[in-house]
Amino acid sequence: MRIGRGIRVKKLFGEHVLRILRARNLVDKSLLIKRTGDFLVIPLAGEVQKEDLRELGVEVDLVVEEFEEATRMPSLFENLRGILSEEDLKSIPRSYDVIGDVCILQLPPVLYDRRRVIGEAFLKSMKNIRIVLNKTEPLSGEYRVGGYELLAGEGGTETIYREHGCVFKLDVSRVFFTPRLSAERIRVASLVKPGEVVCDLFAGVGPFSIIIAKKNPGVKVHACDINPHAYQYLVENIRLNRVEDRVKAYLGDARELSVTDLKNVGDRIIMNLPMSSEMYLDAARNSLKKQGGVVHLHIFLEKDTDPNEKYAGIEESFRRLGCETRLLSSRRIREVAPFKYHWGFDIEVKPKK
Ligand SMILES: C[S@@+](CC[C@H](N)C(=O)[O-])C[C@H]1O[C@@H](n2cnc3c(N)ncnc32)[C@H](O)[C@@H]1O
Repeated sequence: MRIGRGIRVKKLFGEHVLRILRARNLVDKSLLIKRTGDFLVIPLAGEVQKEDLRELGVEVDLVVEEFEEATRMPSLFENLRGILSEEDLKSIPRSYDVIGDVCILQLPPVLYDRRRVIGEAFLKSMKNIRIVLNKTEPLSGEYRVGGYELLAGEGGTETIYREHGCVFKLDVSRVFFTPRLSAERIRVASLVKPGEVVCDLFAGVGPFSIIIAKKNPGVKVHACDINPHAYQYLVENIRLNRVEDRVKAYLGDARELSVTDLKNVGDRIIMNLPMSSEMYLDAARNSLKKQGGVVHLHIFLEKDTDPNEKYAGIEESFRRLGCETRLLSSRRIREVAPFKYHWGFDIEVKPKK
């Protein structure tokens, strides 16, 4: 046993918090995670302050506890020491994504010559990783997909990712996917009420839709995406999670669908297209039932933008569409680039008669 610092978090959010901490190398792998009642205590590596944990987006406590020691693999830095100079070691990204058995890094240009050995070091030091990719192109285009090169490992870029008791098959090189929205997904799923109809206008491979359907057996979800690859995985994931009776998939443009199949059907609309969701407020209005409902609007905000001012603009846009709005809540979900954040606004929207 060893005394160490840890984070105490509700089990419900444990998966989300662990993923973020692991992606930043903040979990002390030499100690075992403790389970007590409804809580997990995750041992921390390094100095972490309460303010550093704000980005987790869920309530956690910093604690000091006794942890059992783990039998351990060589750490990433042990594998890299001797291969990289101390200077280069400092440039190794502290944050990376793990999606199923795929690890995605974004190496700075200064490490480009050494990228293959770095990839091999990540592969050797991480359990359950099959390939390591380097992100070479940012997310772009209508489908919000990035460019990647293989650094280490074998096989393709299709993988199986697990979250909140659901499985998602996806190809990271063909569809958008991020594990960093896992807390937001379970939060939204927990707000859905029995009997509701949900429209997930930018559904991707279906993480919001399927988690909502799995956690709320009485709901119906309409999920659409314009990327044929995302649609194909969405259909497969609906089947893999056995929610065929609750989730219906559509291939196409959300705006077009909002005046055909999805017209006036939804109690709750999910708009997770932060780059341009504001351009689709008309689609949200069309998909809402005539008596209105709740819109979960995701947008990117620069650090200096006041979210209240932003909301005033959204309110005005809805007013022009003939709707009254009330802000239920808003939150900073994650940092997507230096000084740029992904925000979520939960808005009650009522079309005026
Ligand atoms: C940021 S991703 C979010 C995907 C999913 N909600 C998730 O959390 O993984 C946005 C998705 O919207 C899709 N998309 C973009 N424009 C669209 C449109 N006009 N109609 C429907 N889907 C669209 C993209 O293909 C992409 O899969």
